[in-house]
Amino acid sequence: MGVCTFIVVAAVVFIVLYIITLLLVDCDLGLAFATKVGKKIDTLNGKVVWITGASSGIGEHIALALARGGAKLILSARRLNELQRVKESCLATGKNLTDEDILVLQMDVTAVDKLEFHFQKVIEHFGKLDILVNNAGRSQRANWEEIELDVDRQMFDLNVFAVVALSRIAVRYFQKKKEGHIVVTSSLAGVKAVPFSGSYTGAKYAIHGYFDALRTEKMASNITVTLLCPGPVFSNFLAESFTEKTGEKFGKSVEATDRRMTGERCGYLCAVAIANKLGEAWMALSPIIPFYYISVYYPNIRYL
Ligand SMILES: NC(=O)c1ccc[n+]([C@@H]2O[C@H](COP(=O)([O-])OP(=O)(O)OC[C@H]3O[C@@H](n4cnc5c(N)ncnc54)[C@H](OP(=O)(O)O)[C@@H]3O)[C@@H](O)[C@H]2O)c1
Repeated sequence: MGVCTFIVVAAVVFIVLYIITLLLVDCDLGLAFATKVGKKIDTLNGKVVWITGASSGIGEHIALALARGGAKLILSARRLNELQRVKESCLATGKNLTDEDILVLQMDVTAVDKLEFHFQKVIEHFGKLDILVNNAGRSQRANWEEIELDVDRQMFDLNVFAVVALSRIAVRYFQKKKEGHIVVTSSLAGVKAVPFSGSYTGAKYAIHGYFDALRTEKMASNITVTLLCPGPVFSNFLAESFTEKTGEKFGKSVEATDRRMTGERCGYLCAVAIANKLGEAWMALSPIIPFYYISVYYPNIRYL
């Protein structure tokens, strides 16, 4: 076999193996690698982690995965009874956690003038914050051309400006502390647009812009940024989704037969991404991940 033939055969074998691997995993290759040989979630034992949107869905499952690793938690959202329920579950499954180690902090993240007050409550209780997980958010089901501008505004208030406002407070604190970790639950919709979610997709793209900019500014510091990008996951999101009309919720439930990742698996993968300080982490049932690789590396294919 000539050298050229050998190179071509080797390249074809590599590409085939690469595609097969992508079809087998439910996350990007960096995250898949981290689940096998990366840092374990319990390296976060004793770390103080604040999770917004912790009363259900992905936030709840991130909280449970981190509690199993021994992290101390601040659980935030608006529904106090649901936060208490999540706290009880975290205490039941958590590693050596006591009542004091989990603070329920009820808040509406869009009330941005109160965020500094809430931040001080966290510091008063734990004496420090190590990781902020901005997870609170709502999705959307709407026709692009019908969306009222107030829906776009409310979407950005919740999914972008509240996240940026709370993260700015945290980053100023992390600068003084000389280390810290900002995590945001984005979405695969923030990597490649999805239909019938115009304002949502716009908001998640904005998150990547804001936080990639933060990452480049803080490159030489000990401040880390992680963008979590789940694909479809079982949660309460569909009932709460924005529509085209101001004040309206989509109000439907996710079907048990839908092809979606479980909240448990998503929470685990998010926790691994956090423990390993990954810059960006994708997670979705096969075969979604290979399509995202193609759309990122060959950007014009996605517009065909
Ligand atoms: N499920 C998916 O398929 C999927 C895929 C990709 C990304 N995501 C992202 O994952 C994140 C969590 O969504 P989810 O799917 O887990 O939906 P979910 O079950 O509806 O959870 C949303 C969370 O956000 C909280 N929240 C909403 N508005 C809030 C506000 N104004 N202030 C404070 N907390 C607020 C909710 O708590 P309260 O109602 O108690 O306030 C709840 O805890 C979102 O950022 C979403 O964009 C979801």
